[in-house]
Amino acid sequence: MKLKQTFSDFMLHHQEGHKRSYNFLVLLEAIQTAAKYIQYFYKTGSLKNLMGETGITNVQGENVMEMDDIANAIVIHYLRRSNQVIYAITEEEADPVLLNEDGGRYFLYFDPLDGSSNIKHNLPVGFMFAVAKRNLKGPEDGHLRKGSELRAAGIFLIPTGVFTLALADTGVFRFHQDETMTYVIPENADPLLIPENPKSWELSFNASNRKTFSTKVQNWIEKHESKHSFRYIGALAGDFHRLLSNGGMFMYPAIVNHPKPGKNRPQGKLRLLYEANVAAFIAREAGGMAIDENGNDILQIKPESPHQRTALYVGSRPLVKKIQKRLREKE
Ligand code: AHG
Ligand code: MN
Ligand code: MN
Repeated sequence: MKLKQTFSDFMLHHQEGHKRSYNFLVLLEAIQTAAKYIQYFYKTGSLKNLMGETGITNVQGENVMEMDDIANAIVIHYLRRSNQVIYAITEEEADPVLLNEDGGRYFLYFDPLDGSSNIKHNLPVGFMFAVAKRNLKGPEDGHLRKGSELRAAGIFLIPTGVFTLALADTGVFRFHQDETMTYVIPENADPLLIPENPKSWELSFNASNRKTFSTKVQNWIEKHESKHSFRYIGALAGDFHRLLSNGGMFMYPAIVNHPKPGKNRPQGKLRLLYEANVAAFIAREAGGMAIDENGNDILQIKPESPHQRTALYVGSRPLVKKIQKRLREKE
């Protein structure tokens, strides 16, 4: 009988193989448990009337869906119970959440439910997270860490049951839920590498924003679009997931030419700590790259506030390099 390697088994051997602590294992077990409960609520939510809005606007000025709240409460609960996290920064709360001042070794940045506009259609959403380590030697300096300091980042696709995990300097691994809801690694699965072959590349962006991008970006799209297919489901978690397998580029450029100037978003839309950095870190470990509107590495941005936004261009290295060159040219 051939039994599959579970996610927990994989992590245990990874930690032991790298002479790392079991604390990280405990943390990831808690994250995995949270993902399963989010998935359970998501799958059964329509029958329980849980897929609507709460009527509340969050710190981002966006309508909070009931499912956003449920997912956030689940993640906070299991992180707190794990005793491994000092602070968590979540999309759904204005301030960092203090979870375990004394024992927590890690910072967690997370978007409990990415792609809220998909909720009412029961389409895929994601739970995205990134992990940084607390300063264990001296007093803690703060909880805003650069992406380059992350130790891990991952995306659970919900309700699809696929989990992508990037571990610092180790690679990107994909786990699938089996019939017992256990995340397992497929046989002979190699670490994931984002394709560098243009034949399978796809472009992913919200086409209705197109005329609001800078002239440089609009021109770049016009020049390159016919070479690639377009795909967009409106959830970074899902769109990026697809890109990781097929290659190409996901972008959410700065909005600078909106007919109503008040609607411009020169800083972009996506949040640095729990959206852009998650994709950028996974991309880096898969051999890809991610940049902002100035062509600078997303992972080198020093965060100044928990919910800061950034433009994002992420995907296959040769393609991101092409748009980087354009972004760095004078208008
Ligand atoms: P969230 O649902 O967590 O607020 O995130 C939505 C984000 C991201 O996932 C997605 O790529 C993007 O917003 C979609 O924005 P548009 O509707 O402007 O295309
Ligand atoms: Mn999101
Ligand atoms: Mn969200």
